[in-house]
This record gives sequence, C-alpha cells and structure tokens, in this order.
Amino acid sequence: MIAPSLLAADFARLAEACEQVADDADWLHVDVMDNHFVPNLTIGVPVVKSLVAATNLPLDCHLMITDPKRWAVGYAELGAYNVTFHAEATSDPVGVARDLRAAGSKAGLAIDRDTPVEPYLDILPEFDTLLIMTIKAGFGGQSFIPELLDKVRTARHAVRTGHLELRIEVDGGIADDTIAAAAEAGADAFVAGTAVYGAADPAKAIRRLRGLAGD
Ligand code: DX5
Ligand code: ZN
Repeated sequence: MIAPSLLAADFARLAEACEQVADDADWLHVDVMDNHFVPNLTIGVPVVKSLVAATNLPLDCHLMITDPKRWAVGYAELGAYNVTFHAEATSDPVGVARDLRAAGSKAGLAIDRDTPVEPYLDILPEFDTLLIMTIKAGFGGQSFIPELLDKVRTARHAVRTGHLELRIEVDGGIADDTIAAAAEAGADAFVAGTAVYGAADPAKAIRRLRGLAGD
C-alpha cells in the first residue's frame, strides 16, 4: 500500500493533489496536527470532511493530537477509512480503537520515534494498522532513521506468530533510497510526502516507490 501524504502538497490546491494521485495511490494520508501533541498545526474536521467528498481514495487519517478518546471518533463518523491515533496521547488505546471500529472505520495505533513497540504487542488484535514513525512526528521532509526499523521487525514477528491481520505502516522519510529497507523489515504500507508531492510527476513517483517496495 502506498499512501501519499497531503502534508507535502499545496494546501491551497488539495483537490488537485487528490487528482494527481487518484489512479496510483492506495490510500491518501492526511496528517492532522493540533499544535499541542506536536508543535505544528495543519488541518482538522472541516477539511477532512471536504476531502471525503473530493476523492474516491480511502482516507488514512493520522491524528497527531492530544486526547484522541475525545476527538478520534469524529473522523470515523465523517467517513475516514482508517483513523490512526498516537499511543503516547492516551491511556486507553483499546477503548479508542473500539470506538473507531464501532463508528465504522479501521483503527490504527501510531508509535512515535521515542516509544518502544513492545508494550503494545498484546493489544495489536484490536487494531487494523500499526503506524511506526521512522522520524519524530510533527513535520514532513525529515531524514529517515534506519534504527527505527527494529520496531518494524518486532511488530512483523508478532503479526506472524499471532496470525494477526494487521498492516504495518511506516511514516517519515520514505523515499526511493529508503523504501526497500522498510519493506524488507516487514512494512506493508508506506506513507510518502516529499517523495511524492516534491516530485515533478507525483503519479510516476508512486509507481517507482511501489516497484522499489516490491508491492
Ligand atoms: C509527519 C507526518 C508524515 C509526513 C511525512 O509527522 O506524519 O506523514 O507527511 O513526510 P515525508 O514523507 O516528507 O517524511
Ligand atoms: Zn503521517
């Protein structure tokens, strides 16, 4: 699965950014930031609502926000395909996941750069996606941190041994020179912002990434 991140697109031309990748992307990754959980502010419910109407691509909403217990379900209710919230932002990840699934979306758990994955392995059956940050959450355009792929390996092992149906998604610095290593470590969903929207031809960039990932 390749999920171009709109964070690297022109926010004044989001419809155009959706169209550019419509035939090649699997999901559209939408980074919601609240200037509290991370020191950056992007978009929220009204814009996601407009995106649901503007594209047929499934929206992969990545909530970098405080208090997902309160806010996450709103994104599921307005039609997001997958809603991912951060493990660091709640003491009740299972409760949030259940709320999301009850509201009709997939549930995703995100693990930031400094958070180990081991404490969450037992609750993975409650989730459809596990997003492992390969940078520190907050900004696009950062360099990929290869050491973080150890968490992908650990998660892949847990998925295999537990026979789980869980996508392992990587986010941050995914590009032509890093995607193969992430795939090899066991990721099967790849978020790419700069590598797609920073390219002259975003659709072609997705096809190239897909080939490199062996997807
Ligand atoms: C950053 C976001 C990413 C961001 C990735 O916190 O979660 O989705 O768009 O951007 P690149 O691909 O440029 O690293
Ligand atoms: Zn993201």
